[in-house]
Amino acid sequence: MNSQQDARRPLPGMSSPQIVQTFCEFFRERGHHRIPGSSLVPRSGDPVLFTTSGMHPLTPYLEGRPHPDGRRLTDVQRCLRTTDLGEVGDRTHLTVFEMLGSWSLGDYPGSQSLRWGHELITTGFGIDPGLLHATVFGGSDQVGPDTGLAEVWGELGVPVELTGEDNWWSSGPAGLCGADSELFVWTGSAPPEGTPGTGERWVELWNHVMLRYRRLADGTLMPLPRPNVDTGMGLERLATVLQGQVSVFGCDLLQPWTRTLGRLWPAQETSLRLVTDHLRSTVVVIGDGVTPSSTGRGYVLRRLIRRALTSLWRDDPARSLSDLPPDLTGQTLSHFGQLTSPVQVMGVLLDEERRFRDLLSRGRRVLSRRHNNEPLTEEELRYLHQTHGLPREFVPAMLSG
Ligand code: ALA
Repeated sequence: MNSQQDARRPLPGMSSPQIVQTFCEFFRERGHHRIPGSSLVPRSGDPVLFTTSGMHPLTPYLEGRPHPDGRRLTDVQRCLRTTDLGEVGDRTHLTVFEMLGSWSLGDYPGSQSLRWGHELITTGFGIDPGLLHATVFGGSDQVGPDTGLAEVWGELGVPVELTGEDNWWSSGPAGLCGADSELFVWTGSAPPEGTPGTGERWVELWNHVMLRYRRLADGTLMPLPRPNVDTGMGLERLATVLQGQVSVFGCDLLQPWTRTLGRLWPAQETSLRLVTDHLRSTVVVIGDGVTPSSTGRGYVLRRLIRRALTSLWRDDPARSLSDLPPDLTGQTLSHFGQLTSPVQVMGVLLDEERRFRDLLSRGRRVLSRRHNNEPLTEEELRYLHQTHGLPREFVPAMLSG
């Protein structure tokens, strides 16, 4: 048995394609039209760098424009979040992940979404209802508490915790936003205890957002012409729970990467997870047409590649991305329906690897001219960054190389 499996609890063991099919079929039976997922690169004119949530490509329709496929939609959307970079390496966070989404564009209310959500989780996916906990918006000085949604969870027999900011979702500092209700599942081997706010064995599965407002740059909340419901559930997290895995890196979507990289470049678990996450994310980002650069999307990609290399070279400076098997990258590109070839991806990776090696050796030469072994001062770090283009996060790699 795989060491990441939790044998103490019987689980449905659904594969990720079965999960996607069950999700989309459930919503199709309830009148939702499945729309295709979009690229990680948002449409032109969109101010964000990457698609960070399933609702993103639907923004004009959530703001009131009629959608050609109706008012009930569902999809699977690839997303990229740089806000979680610091968390990558733990059990649940990924940079690129897939979000199962459902939308009511001014059609049914949030209470209906919660009831369907509960039905799908317990009946469709077979999760024990006794392992669930919900959180609901407890109110702010601008918007009252969502007591109606708390009552729905109560009727469904799901314990509820009321929170403030944790249950307010926004697509950015300005833009679409609203109170949300999150559904958590208990992943401990002992019976559930505490609440999502107090125990880390509660894993957030599904967020139901009552998307009712647009926040203006001055902070004012403007009610939308019609209230929407926007839901999102992380596919890898759900697969992890249903497949009885301890971390997302053990689910069927990540396992080919974790296994292959673990054999290729043995490393301590947190480093292996980081390298797995960053290289897999890198492939998807390149697959969507981004190339490394010093600004914007290209810079995010550059950082992912360089962070992965820093981690690999900490264990062995001779490691090279040229050893990444093309069938692994090919599998990921085809999973995301991307037409970029593994050879093209490798070309981008190796070009960036070469630049980074050159940069580090230049940095080492600069550092070797120092006359002491004291830790680098703020001024030196700033000099390395501004004059030699060496971000401070890579300085340890130069010192250890
Ligand atoms: N847009 C919501 C989220 O990303 C569903 O959590």
